[in-house]
Order: sequence, then structure tokens, then C-alpha cells
Amino acid sequence: MSRVAYVNGQYQPHGQAVIHVEDRGFQFADGVYEVWSVFDGRMADFDGHMTRLHRSLNELRIDIPMTRESLTQVLKETIRRNRVRNGIVYLQVTRGTARRDHPFPAEGTPPSVIVTARSISADRSEATAKKGVAVVTVPDIRWGRCDIKTVGLLANVLAKQQARERGAYEAWMVDEMGLVTEGSSTNAWIVDENGKLRTRDTQANILKGITRTALMDLIAEEGVELDERPFSVDEAKRAKEAFFTAAGAFVMPAVSIDGVKIGDGKPGPITTRLRTLYLDQARRDAI
Ligand code: PDD
Repeated sequence: MSRVAYVNGQYQPHGQAVIHVEDRGFQFADGVYEVWSVFDGRMADFDGHMTRLHRSLNELRIDIPMTRESLTQVLKETIRRNRVRNGIVYLQVTRGTARRDHPFPAEGTPPSVIVTARSISADRSEATAKKGVAVVTVPDIRWGRCDIKTVGLLANVLAKQQARERGAYEAWMVDEMGLVTEGSSTNAWIVDENGKLRTRDTQANILKGITRTALMDLIAEEGVELDERPFSVDEAKRAKEAFFTAAGAFVMPAVSIDGVKIGDGKPGPITTRLRTLYLDQARRDAI
């Protein structure tokens, strides 16, 4: 099936869709992005991702490229043209194209906007979640503004690659105190040895995940106690359950950390329940 990408106002065949060599996203990673899960052709947690996009743009002083309504239209149209029922839609906004110079380009330089969408097999991700996945830990070597969802993901790429080379699905990054910050593209959670649900607070240098926030609301509705506090690698290895959250991964059970089995090495009951709760809600509220 032919794929289509939206690039600066035009829908182009995916294989021919290009940006300029002096796009600042390409030159400096001077741009931000968002990823929405798509269920039945509709976007989950829509407002959360849109609001975070605006926050990221604002923090970096990149102009808002178009109205929220127009952008929503482009996202929907890209999903439609790619015939995505289940999958993800990706949006990237950069500071635009200008001669390579570190300072911001002249005022009025239009931001670049690209949107792509692709299908993900719901069956395959369900099968992965049923078995659970392996996690390894790596040092967190990132910069000090991981709350902004920038395309500057080199440290995350290296972490994920290390995971793959060590036979794992995800890498959890660890700060100098031995505390887990977050996954290379996910937020990290455990059910600790006392049975308490834990995920670290977002005062730290991590991304405030939209899936994380949505899940927290569901946890509160369920009356489950949540301890928003960092945990160490040792605590994670002693945990009853572990999992991570992100658009596209939803709630994914982690069944080993650095080769150490978590619980009985199978996805735990709380994780499984939270995955179902999240998926039901995300499907229901998708637009
Ligand atoms: N990643 N932490 C990091 C470093 C991430 O890159 C992501 C998302 C998350 C989870 O955020 P959310 O729940 O809003 O998706 C946490 C996306 C999916 C990606 O880079 O593809």
C-alpha cells in the first residue's frame, strides 16, 4: 500500500517526501515532536499530546505553525490517506530552514511541519504484552531539559540500541544516584516489594508522559494508591511487577531487568489490569 507524508503544506508520496538540507531539525535537532496512538483511525489522548506540543514549542520559542484546528485536520487527513486503523501518527515541528548558523533565524522564518502515520499490528503488540519484555539499565547521559519533547534523541537512540544488543526491548536510564529516570522512549513504573505502585515524579529531568498522566487518572478512579517517588535499580529488581508506558506501547509489562526475573517472570496482575483499563479508556475517548 502506498504511504503518504505531509510536508509543509503538501501531501507527498512517502518515498519522495523530503525536507531541505538546511532544515534546523536536521542540522541542530532544533525541533519538537509528538506521537499519538491511533485506534480505529482515531487519536488517543488527543488533548494531552496537543497541549504538550504547544508547551514544547513555547519553551523553545518556536512559532506555532498553524491553528490547532488546522493541525488536527492535517493529523486526521494523514491517518486517513495512509489508511491507518491501528498504529501511530507522528508530528514534527522544527524552527524551519535557514543558512546554518547557531542563533535563531530571522523572525518570520516559517517552522517546518511534517506528519507521517503508520500501522502497527494490534495482534502483535497484544502478543508481546502477554509475554512481557526484557529491560536493561543504562546510565542517563542526557541534557537538562528532558521535559521538552525535542527531536534531539541521540542519547535515547544509543540507549535503545544497547537494549537491543543486550537482547532487551527497552532501556531504563539511571541517574548518578542509582535511581531510574525513565525509559529510552517510555516512562518507568514498578509495583514495589510492599505492593505499592511507584513511578517517579516529573520534577526530575524526565518527560511528563501523556500515557502516564492518563493512567494516573485511571489509577485514582480505581482507588489504587500511587507513590509518585523515584525508585532505584535495586528496588526495581526486587519489585513484584514492573512496566512502562508510552503512546504505541500503552502499558507494557517488563518481566526482567538486567537479566533478573521480576516476580515470577510473567506480567503481573496489576500491570495486566492497568493495561486493560488504559486501552479501554483510550479507545473510548479517541477522536
Ligand atoms: N516516546 N519518555 C520518553 C523519553 C519518551 O520518548 C516517551 C514517548 C515517553 C512517554 O510519553 P507518552 O506517554 O506521552 O508517549 C516517556 C514516543 C512514543 C517516541 O519517542 O516515539
